[in-house]
Amino acid sequence: MKDIHILAIETSCDETSMAIVKNGQEVEALTILSQMDTHAKYGGVVPEIASRMHTENITIVLEETIKKFGHSLNEVDAISVTYAPGLLGSLLVGIECAKTLALVYNKPLIAVNHTMGHIYANNIEHHIVYPTLALIVSGGHTDLLILKSESELEILGSTIDDSVGEVFDKVARVLGMPYPGGPNIEASALKGQNTYQLPKPMQDETYNFSYSGLKSYIINLVHNERQRNNEIRINDLACSFQTTAVEELTRKVELALKNTNIKNFILAGGVSANQFLRKEIQKVCAKYNVTFHVPNILYCTDNAAMIGCAAYPLFKAQKFSDFTLNAKSSENIRKYVEKNN
Ligand code: KG4
Ligand code: ZN
Repeated sequence: MKDIHILAIETSCDETSMAIVKNGQEVEALTILSQMDTHAKYGGVVPEIASRMHTENITIVLEETIKKFGHSLNEVDAISVTYAPGLLGSLLVGIECAKTLALVYNKPLIAVNHTMGHIYANNIEHHIVYPTLALIVSGGHTDLLILKSESELEILGSTIDDSVGEVFDKVARVLGMPYPGGPNIEASALKGQNTYQLPKPMQDETYNFSYSGLKSYIINLVHNERQRNNEIRINDLACSFQTTAVEELTRKVELALKNTNIKNFILAGGVSANQFLRKEIQKVCAKYNVTFHVPNILYCTDNAAMIGCAAYPLFKAQKFSDFTLNAKSSENIRKYVEKNN
């Protein structure tokens, strides 16, 4: 069969990224231009600044990606783009670029859900084997699901409030660490001990998650200690938070492994860059004799290569979009599954 090359565009948050992916798994070119340093000054992503920066950066990223590919865009078979979920203004920059390229080069347009991208990042170094359980943990999502096949998904549970990545970022902020907080919490936790008694998020038997209680508890604790001029052991608190947050993820994963008896597991999303989380999930998978995979750290956080991977099954199924494609800022994985199953 002829090789399929897909150009992928990702602009849902604060990374302007493009990639060319062959046959849904081989990354032939990848460019990621992060706006992280700009947003760090404000303690988080400022949507208006993000979309302006995407507009400024997108042609630079396109030129760089074509250079890495070494061929003209006439050689690609389709143009794919993240259309949901994410920041509306940011998504629109990527979508308009994708439509323009599809029109100029006369290529089919493929709309990709960002969370599906995180999942399919697992195809880059390994092949996803179905059925598989998947845990998606990022700045916007905390979802546990079953991938029954390339086209059939079942959501087991999701966060009922904050995502785990959001809480890493908020806890980091209250402890005085810069945005994005996840990697800083991880580094600080390595130097600390799990000595703070924190509330356990959800002591139930569902597959849902809740992180707002843990977040509020830590914010209140820090404010109260500061008011009393008491010392806050930052590394210990980072370690205690990370341990509690990860324990909750691991507990729900174990419940799903036990109840479903599925023997494949994949981890995905920005928080899956966390080494402690990777190790803890790997341990529970080993206990149940389950094959465990997680993408290389480069492909855990937002990038366009994962979008090119997720576009491939849509290309094979000829699921193309027309030029009325619009951004859907709040179409999370649950809504996506309801629409497509
Ligand atoms: O997937 P992603 O790049 O963007 C979204 O789709 O949301 O995830 C970003 C999230 C941020 O909350 C960031 O703090 C978190 O992933 N993150 C981490 C680590 N690296 C990134 N969280 C914990 N430990 C890390 N090493
Ligand atoms: Zn993401």
